[in-house]
Amino acid sequence: MAKTKKVILDCDPGHDDAIGILLGFASQDLNYLYKLDILGITIVAGNQTLEKTVNNALKIVEYANIDTKIYPGYAQPLIRDLEIAPEVHGETGLDGPEFPGISGSPEKKHAVSFMIDTIRESQDKVTVITTGPMTNLAAAMIGAPDIIDNIEEIVFMGGSAYTGNWTPAAEFNILVDPEAVQFIMKSDLKKKMVGLEVTRKAMFYPKDINNLKSDRSSVARMAGELLEYFVQFHINEKGMPGCPLHDPLAVASIINPDILKTEPYSVNIECGGQYTTGRTVVDFDGDSFDTPVTDVALDVDVKAFKEMIFEALKSYR
Ligand code: BDR
Ligand code: CA
Repeated sequence: MAKTKKVILDCDPGHDDAIGILLGFASQDLNYLYKLDILGITIVAGNQTLEKTVNNALKIVEYANIDTKIYPGYAQPLIRDLEIAPEVHGETGLDGPEFPGISGSPEKKHAVSFMIDTIRESQDKVTVITTGPMTNLAAAMIGAPDIIDNIEEIVFMGGSAYTGNWTPAAEFNILVDPEAVQFIMKSDLKKKMVGLEVTRKAMFYPKDINNLKSDRSSVARMAGELLEYFVQFHINEKGMPGCPLHDPLAVASIINPDILKTEPYSVNIECGGQYTTGRTVVDFDGDSFDTPVTDVALDVDVKAFKEMIFEALKSYR
């Protein structure tokens, strides 16, 4: 019997964030251990400016007929200037498919106020998934420390125990706002880091993308077009044979917790390095840091993850 988890999805869409959103809502129709009750989508600047990431979230939910609310959050990191990723996600942040014009609008309430009020008022503890820079969540926890008791878990796509993707040391989401992540690492909350060690193992290849593009579900076809754009960057610029789906893996690991194998380690974030800013430094030996542990994902059931993605995207009619 499936159980339900109350979730806030915090993201910066972004091609893989978009598929994370689609997966999260589709979980209601899938047969895994958990279905996600998504209480709202909060948006942060990251892959593109806040205005664009908000628009992209609206494009996706409207295209897929998803009934939810979009809350705009921080337009820049806590301290640093914003770094964006048009090389990966294009000028819109969601280049590839042609989307019809947006008919709805985002909520007036700020993402951080929404997070604080929703977590405070929820009868059940809330899981927060972040698939972008962690600015909104850090701001909510700094502004309202009482909410921490009502957070079940933080699951974040970001970081890597070994090598980065934006610099040799850092993964993009952490590099953009390292101070926000370090604040969160120091909390006693249950936290799961879904980093590049696992996301890079679960590649989607051109044949997988063609499979989506020829499906009868228009949402699966749109996702195929998104991935067709995303994969070109990885093939041409990174020399990879396909593309990882970073953000959906974080979402998938809640729907089916068996998808990821994790180990608890202390993780600190390099906030002052000359070459290593944004690095997630994992204390594998367990004798250097006293930061509360984070569950670091080190292995992934690739087959189960990919099956879930296909099933989810094709479930939209
Ligand atoms: C992360 O960076 C972004 O470009 C993706 O959306 C993902 O969240 C991967 O490093
Ligand atoms: Ca993202």
